Amino acid sequence: MNPTTTPAVSLTAFVRRTAVASLLGLSLGAASVALGHGDVTPQEVDTQGLPDLGEAPLMENPFRPGNQHAEEHDTAVAVGERGYAGNCAVCHGIQAKSGGLTPDLRELEEWDDEYFIQRVLNGTERGMPSFKANLDQTAIWAIKTYIESVSP
Ligand code: HEC
Repeated sequence: MNPTTTPAVSLTAFVRRTAVASLLGLSLGAASVALGHGDVTPQEVDTQGLPDLGEAPLMENPFRPGNQHAEEHDTAVAVGERGYAGNCAVCHGIQAKSGGLTPDLRELEEWDDEYFIQRVLNGTERGMPSFKANLDQTAIWAIKTYIESVSP
């Protein structure tokens, strides 16, 4: 056996084993996030003080300065802070500072509003739960307003 190739071969084997181990670690991590959510009951959000925005999803945050319900902006931040803490922080991080496993919601831009409401209503197959049954859009836009208030 050529002594110079032996270390290279076992290094490859080592790298491969490490890669498998970290893949396993990742999927276990994802599973515990999912299980964690299973244990967490979605928290109702008291939207008192905010207008009822109805069923048909708006495509823009109505509480953002300059928009239709801008005068309720500060109430929306307060309502959204509670809604975020009770429903989103477990996965997306305290004050929307992501730990890296989920998207950092502070990075969404104004023109992502439509994307935001669709994600929260419908969820995705990769770990984002649907909140259609538990949050109305008044609560969801309040949460968005809160996220904007803690975004750089
Ligand atoms: C069980 C964990 C979990 C909870 C709870 C959760 N999310 Fe998510 N969310 C995820 C994961 C995982 C993704 C990435 C999904 C994907 O890429 O398909 C995601 C993606 C998103 C996205 C898309 C972001 C992007 O940059 O693509 C938005 C918006 C979002 N979540 C908002 C929320 C809001 C608002 C709440 C609370 C009402 C919430 N999420 C609660 C796990 C969660």
